[in-house]
Amino acid sequence: MLKNNAENLHQSVLLEESLRLLEPKVGEVFVDATLGLGGHAEAILEAAENVSVVGIDQDAQAIGHARQRLAKYGARVRIFHANFSDLKEVLAEAKIEKVNGILADLGVSSLQFDSGERGFSFRFDAPLDMRMNADSETETAAELLENLSEAEIADVIYKYGEERLSRRIARRIVWKREIGEPVKTTKELAETVEKAIGRAKAKDKIHPATRTFQALRIAVNGELEILEDFIGNAVDVLKTGGRLAVITFHSLEDRIVKHAFQKLSGKCFCPPRIPECVCGAEKRIEILTRKPIIADETETLANPRARSAKLRACLKIV
Ligand SMILES: C[S@@+](CC[C@H](N)C(=O)[O-])C[C@H]1O[C@@H](n2cnc3c(N)ncnc32)[C@H](O)[C@@H]1O
Repeated sequence: MLKNNAENLHQSVLLEESLRLLEPKVGEVFVDATLGLGGHAEAILEAAENVSVVGIDQDAQAIGHARQRLAKYGARVRIFHANFSDLKEVLAEAKIEKVNGILADLGVSSLQFDSGERGFSFRFDAPLDMRMNADSETETAAELLENLSEAEIADVIYKYGEERLSRRIARRIVWKREIGEPVKTTKELAETVEKAIGRAKAKDKIHPATRTFQALRIAVNGELEILEDFIGNAVDVLKTGGRLAVITFHSLEDRIVKHAFQKLSGKCFCPPRIPECVCGAEKRIEILTRKPIIADETETLANPRARSAKLRACLKIV
C-alpha cells in the first residue's frame, strides 16, 4: 500500500505563477499533461469551484501517488497512464472535445530522481534504466549504450547534454564495451565519464557526469522529439481564450517551447529574400510571457530544483 505522502516526494515548481497564468474559473476543465505527484493538479482543483482535471503521466508509480492525493476530488479528476504525445487520444477517451487550460511541467520528478533503482541519478548505484515509463518496451539507457555506434553515442551526448567532450566520453564507453566491460550501471557510467574527461573538468561546479546523464535521459524518453508536436496539439484542443502553460528545466526544452510559441503567434520563419511567406505562419495564439518567468529567491532557496525552471504561457485566439 502506498503511503500518501506525495506532498513530501516532490515540491511543485512555480505553482502560484502557473495558476496566475492559467486562471482557473468555476466549472472549467483543465489538463495536467505531466501529473507527477499531483501538486499542480491539486492547486488547480482548489483554485475555483467545480474545476475538473484530466491528469496524464507516463509513470505508473507517480500515478499511484497522485491518485491517492487527489481521491478526495472524486469525479472531478480523471487520471490516465499515457504519454502526453497521446493528448488527443486521451481526451477522446475522456469524451472531452476542448479544454480551458493545459499545464506541462516537464522533465523528471523528485520521486523519479530520488528512486535510486530507476537509474536517473549517479547519487545511487543502480542499473542504467532511465525510462520514465518503466512498463514500456523502449530501450533503457544501458541498452542504448550497448547498441549505438560510437559516433551515435557522441551525438546524443553532444546534442542533448551540450557536452563539449562528448567524443572522448563516447570513445571510452565503446572501449569498455570492446574489453567486455559494458557500462551498465549509474556508478559505472559516472566513473567512465570522469575517467574520459580527466582533469579537463576539474574546475566545473557540477559533477562531470551531469550532462551525460541528462543527455541519456532525454534520448531514452524521446523528450525533445515529442515536445513541439505536443504544443501544437495542445493549442488544437484548447477552447478559444484557453491557456497553455509550460515549465521547462533546461535550455534545449525552453528553446523548443519559445520557438513553437513564436511560430504559433504568426512569426514568419521564411528566409529573408523570399517575396511571399511559405512557412505557413498563422496567428493562433497570443504569447502571455514576453520573457520566461523564473523562480524567485525564496523558492530557489527552498527548492534548488526550481533554479533552472522557466515558465512560458500563451492564450489561444483561433
Ligand atoms: C516535474 S514532474 C511533474 C510534477 C507535478 N507537476 C507536481 O506538481 O507534482 C514531471 C512528470 O511528468 C511526467 N512526464 C514527463 N514526460 C512525459 C510525457 N511525455 N508524457 C507523460 N508524462 C510525462 C514524468 O513521468 C513526471 O512524473
